[in-house]
Parts: sequence; structure tokens; C-alpha cells
Amino acid sequence: MADYESHTFDVVVIGAGGAGLRAAIEASAQGARTALVCKSLLGKAHTVMAEGGIAAALGNVYPEDNWRVHFRDTMRGGKLLNNWRMVQLQAQEAPDRVHELEEWGALFDRTNDGRILQRDFGGHRYARLAHVGDRTGLEMIRTLQHHAVHRGIDVFMECTVTRLLKDGERIAGAFAYWRESGRFVVFDAPAVVLATGGIGKAYKITSNSWEYTGDGHALALWAGADLIDMEFVQFHPTGMVWPPSVRGILVTEGVRGDGGILQNALGDRFMFRYISEMFRAETADTEEEADRWYTDKQNARRTPDLLPRDEVARAINSEIKEGRGSPHGGVFLDIASRRSADYIRRRLPSMYHQFRQLADVDITKEPMEVGPTCHYMMGGVRVDAVSQASTVPGLFAAGEVAAGAHGANRLGGNSLSDLLVFGRRAGLYAAEYADSLTSRPVVDPGRVDELAGEDLRPFDTAGSENPYAIQQDLQECMQALVGIIRTEDELAKAIEELAVLGDRVGRVRVEGHRQYNPGWHLALDLGPLLTVSECIARAAWQRRESRGAQTRDDYPTTDPELGKVNVVVRQRAGELDVAVEPRPPLPDDLQALLENQ
Ligand code: FUM
Repeated sequence: MADYESHTFDVVVIGAGGAGLRAAIEASAQGARTALVCKSLLGKAHTVMAEGGIAAALGNVYPEDNWRVHFRDTMRGGKLLNNWRMVQLQAQEAPDRVHELEEWGALFDRTNDGRILQRDFGGHRYARLAHVGDRTGLEMIRTLQHHAVHRGIDVFMECTVTRLLKDGERIAGAFAYWRESGRFVVFDAPAVVLATGGIGKAYKITSNSWEYTGDGHALALWAGADLIDMEFVQFHPTGMVWPPSVRGILVTEGVRGDGGILQNALGDRFMFRYISEMFRAETADTEEEADRWYTDKQNARRTPDLLPRDEVARAINSEIKEGRGSPHGGVFLDIASRRSADYIRRRLPSMYHQFRQLADVDITKEPMEVGPTCHYMMGGVRVDAVSQASTVPGLFAAGEVAAGAHGANRLGGNSLSDLLVFGRRAGLYAAEYADSLTSRPVVDPGRVDELAGEDLRPFDTAGSENPYAIQQDLQECMQALVGIIRTEDELAKAIEELAVLGDRVGRVRVEGHRQYNPGWHLALDLGPLLTVSECIARAAWQRRESRGAQTRDDYPTTDPELGKVNVVVRQRAGELDVAVEPRPPLPDDLQALLENQ
């Protein structure tokens, strides 16, 4: 171990987006020696891509709102596959977490009487999203980051974790490398919180940036933890489609929340033709009623432009496939004809600048061209709802890398409240766990040498595979065969192609040395990317029904029996094992909320 830089902590949090920051703040507040390790620069996290707001039933705009309605909306949005206890905790605790964030300095938009303003979003019955223009995630990160830095938490930036370390069954720490120097680092810690975010870089069109290669999902799986719901990948309905260099960049749902509408090339408001049975009774079927809903929640039904994301993304996909798309392969999102230029610039400043600067489009005058983009992973580490503990002692997970809260489809705005509520819980229980141990797990130096050897292998192989070419082929495969619409044949083909890619990963070669070598970094990212892609394809193959974000062309209906199970993926003896396991039934009092709200 003398050969390696090493650090000793009680709790190591991997990932410094909203969930990681909130977990680290809590662990440190509990007195745990806490480290925050992030692959990128502190503050550069996908959290900033949750632009439109934090879903929390504050009741500031609609006093009728409360945690019970939020619970009901989230369960219905998740097509009832959610871990109901997580949904309950999130709905109950989100208001406190938002107020806490405000106490820590977040500057929210305000109502006329000075309370936190809330906006409409898909699937939420009432205007529920506390927001800061269309930069809510950014404000959240800024606030949490300042708070964490002031607490004196040790931050390790540009440091990538490649394996978790174990002592027997228990977590003993994490093994990482500095991106700048290529030198290895050992974190000796009995509790690790994964908060690494998602898997977007497994797809060609994504709102995610380069960091999101499924690291936490793979680290947990390789350490023996269960993953669930891996078949559910969220395609946000509105990403930019033009010019090609910006394809996939997020266009916030806040545009529709603030009155924007979707239209096809014929000028048709096509969403009226795609209202599913589950939402029919409460969705407007005339334009007049849909427009009235923005101001009159009691006497009008919701606009179909704000159906849950899975439904809107599928509808857009169909319009494009059936030849009614926009010139660059999307549909139109129009707010210019519905709100004043002043309103648009005030409410959606980032969108205004994003389109002006990247696409030369003035959204106060012209519609935007938008299409689905891979945005969020509902599947991830199976956790205990209360403590966020995984099935491996000492391993916790929070935020996007953890599964359960969102079921088969997440409602917009629920990620920000998820990461505040469950980030805090993960930090709290990880600190408690570390404190409760009577014997500290020990890092095995032999294992550390082995891992260092594995990570350096791309410099030594006889192969000649290029990591960039493999990543591109993997993204093409996942986009084409494991995308919004799936079939048995295509999933089987994807599984075969991923196996071939796996062989190629074994022959990756990188040139140069360890000092800032992006080719080597990507070579190491290919392991997690390939692992999560295989989990997604195998879980999608296993679930023979359509539900939420999983649309099977060959099984187009929802099977009530499959609503009672999760698809669970584990790694045993180096092989993936895919199982179907029963879920705890919803208690009667919560079932009643689904029916009575
Ligand atoms: O559209 C958005 O602003 C994204 C929000 C979210 O993913 O929660």
C-alpha cells in the first residue's frame, strides 16, 4: 500500500451532483469524516439539467396540493411500479428539503405575496415545481456546493473510482485514479455512498455529458449488489435536434409548463391523439379546455402537452416515424405564439440564450425543433427505502443511481426532490453505519495491486481496438436496438452485439502515458458502459409488456401480473443473472390515495 496515495475516512461519497453533495453534507453533520469524490469538476453535474424545478407539495400556488396528491401523481406517472415507501417519504419530506435549501441561500422565484413560486410540469396535478427561472438545478448545485465547502468536507475532484474494495462481504473502501496524473488513490472507508448519476452516454442522443457512463451502477453490480428496473430508461420528449452538434441538449419541460405546445409539420396539436386510458378522464380533449387548465385547475382537465414523459416521447416518436416531423427530424415546440417575448425571456432565460446562440433561433418569435433525448435512468441499485442501504453491507446509493422512487417512468421535477430527500437519508444512515461498527473492514493490498494492473492493461495489450470507435458502436447499438420502442428480435440482436463489443473491449489499446490521457480514461469507462448496456438489454428482454418507459412493440399492452414484480440483475461468478422477483404490495391506506385524490 506504500506505493499508493491513500486516505482514511468514515464515509466516502462518490459523485458530487445534488445527491452526493446532500449526502456528504449530512454525513459530515453527523460527525463522520467524509470525502466527496467526483469524476469531473465540483459543480459540473447532470443535476443542472433538471432545469424546470423541484417537485414539492408546498401548496404555495394551489393550497389544495399536499403530499398525498404528490404521492398519487408520482405512482401513476411511474405506472405503479414505484417503491411506494420511497414515494411516500419523498412526497412527505420534499417541502422541508426545499425550505432547508432556501435557508442555505437558494434564491427561488417568488409569488406576488413573497412565497416560493411553483410551476406546472408533466403529470403533476397542481403547479408544484419550486424553481429559479429555468436554472433550478444550477441554483441547487451552487447552494449545496457552498454549504459543503463551508462544512470543510474533503473534496477530490477529477478523480475516477474504478472499483469498490471489500473485506469479505463488507465494503472496505474504493479504488480510484487522478485524471490529471493517472496516479492511483486508495480510499479506506467502511461506508460508501454511490451518487454517480446515470447512464446517458450509453446512447447516441442524450442530454447527459461525458461523465455519465453508468459508473455507480457497474461498481455496485461488480461489488455484489442487486440492480432493479434496469429496463426503464427515460427519453425526455424535448431535446434539441438541430444543428447536429447540439443534438440531445435538453429543452426544459418548463417550456410546456409555462404554456408551450407541441405541433407536427401540419400544424396539428397531435398530443390530443395520444392520450392513454390511464389519463383519459383527467386530460382535456379540446384546445380550449387544455388552455384553460393553466389557470383553472378545478374546472378544466390537464393539457395533453403535459402528459408524463414516456407518453409524450412515444407520441413524438410516432409523429416523426409517420412522416409528420419537422425538417430536421423532430416536431415543433411553440411558445412564441402563446406568451409575450418579455414573459419568455423572464421565465425561460436559458432556453432563450441556448436557442439564440446554438441554433440561431429566437424562441420569442419562432417555434423550436425538438425530439426525444436519453435523459434519465429509472433503474439502478436496489435500496432500502428508509436508509438507502444496498444489499451489500456498507454500500449506500442515492439519486439517479438508486432505483425505486420513480418506478417505470419519472415525473419531471421529481429528480431534484429525490436527490435532496434520499441524499440526506443516505448520508445520515451511512454515517450511522460507520459509527456502529465494532471492527473496521480492512483493505487488502493484494487486491489493490490487482486492480492497478487491470486498469493499466490498455497500455499493454497486443490488441489494436480504439476506445472511441467502441463507444460509438455501443451508442449506435443501444440507440437503434434498445431505444424508445423495443422488440424481442432487436433486443436479442443487441445482446449479441454487446457480447462482440465486450470482446473488443478486451483488446483495447491506448497510446502514450498515464498523465492526462483521455483515451485511457474512456477505455476505463467502457467497462461500466458495456455492463449497464447489457443489464438494460437483458432486463428489457425479460419484461414482456409495455409499461412506462419500456415500450415493447411485440407486447403492446400492460400486463397487471408484471406490475407485481421487479426485474433484478445480479452478477454472480462473473456472469449476469436476471431474475423476476415479487414486489411488496401497496398498503390499503396508500392504495386509497390513488383512487380518492
Ligand atoms: O425538463 C426539465 O427541466 C428537466 C427536469 C427533470 O428532469 O426533472
